Amino acid sequence: MTTFAPSPAATPISDLLDLTGKTAIVTGGAMGIGNGIARRLHEAGASVLVADLDPSAGEAAAAQLNARREHSALCTKTDVGEAEQVRAMVSAAVESFGGLDILVNNAGIYPMVSFRDTDLATFERVLRVNLVGVFLCMKAGAEQMIAQGRGGKIINVTSVDALHPSMVGLANYDASKHGLWGLTKNVALELAEYGIFVNAIAPGGVATPGTGVPSVQDAVAETVARIPMHRMADQDEMGRVALFLASELSSYMTGSQVVADGGMLLM
Ligand SMILES: NC(=O)c1ccc[n+]([C@@H]2O[C@H](COP(=O)([O-])OP(=O)(O)OC[C@H]3O[C@@H](n4cnc5c(N)ncnc54)[C@H](O)[C@@H]3O)[C@@H](O)[C@H]2O)c1
Repeated sequence: MTTFAPSPAATPISDLLDLTGKTAIVTGGAMGIGNGIARRLHEAGASVLVADLDPSAGEAAAAQLNARREHSALCTKTDVGEAEQVRAMVSAAVESFGGLDILVNNAGIYPMVSFRDTDLATFERVLRVNLVGVFLCMKAGAEQMIAQGRGGKIINVTSVDALHPSMVGLANYDASKHGLWGLTKNVALELAEYGIFVNAIAPGGVATPGTGVPSVQDAVAETVARIPMHRMADQDEMGRVALFLASELSSYMTGSQVVADGGMLLM
């Protein structure tokens, strides 16, 4: 049985937050919540690989980070639902930055369609990206972290819908996110032994390109009306939570889900 000791109690806060020398992968990091997370992890000192389906947005995101610190970011064109591409993503991080310490599984899709109108292809696509994709990334990422022998952090972006359905039209999504929360907990149980700590962030409503499309504006208005804080979150507010979970500030946490929803689940 291996025990991974936390940094001493006298460690200054700035050191607890310092990710210098660490490498992070953020899936879906080109925009939205993933980009908010990539930016904060990078600011804390980590080298960041942005893995995204959209290569031009990914290049732009990596260029922004490199402008702040040279040779500290790159992007790969990755579909998290494809095992081969996921393995290539982890190899790229290792080859470019020398290892993998933080894996953020953020890429996800949320097509709004009623259960009665959902066809099998849509259901399978949502599960493929939101659940199988995280499975594949955790498999490849954890094997790398175990081989390195220095532990690691895995952060899965779930949703309040992992705990409670937010609205009609998200049955496929809720199936994927409930599954992801179960997956997160059991993998946390298994990987603690290796000093790999696995936690989740459950956002409520966050203003992103995905929630900015015209077809979901009624749903967004309905959501905001139910949020005690009366607003959507900014993507950076998820970056702040991710930084907490990626850093030594959360040294005694694994198998937890941080709900960041402006109080939405209270209603
Ligand atoms: N925005 C919200 O209100 C909200 C609320 C709760 C949970 N979430 C979760 O947060 C995550 C991000 O949401 P968002 O609103 O920022 O999304 P978004 O649509 O704004 O951005 C998603 C990013 O992921 C990329 N992506 C999509 N499919 C991919 C794939 N198969 N492989 C790799 N990259 C892929 C996209 O190209 C894009 O860059 C999702 O998992 C979502 O379920 C979002």
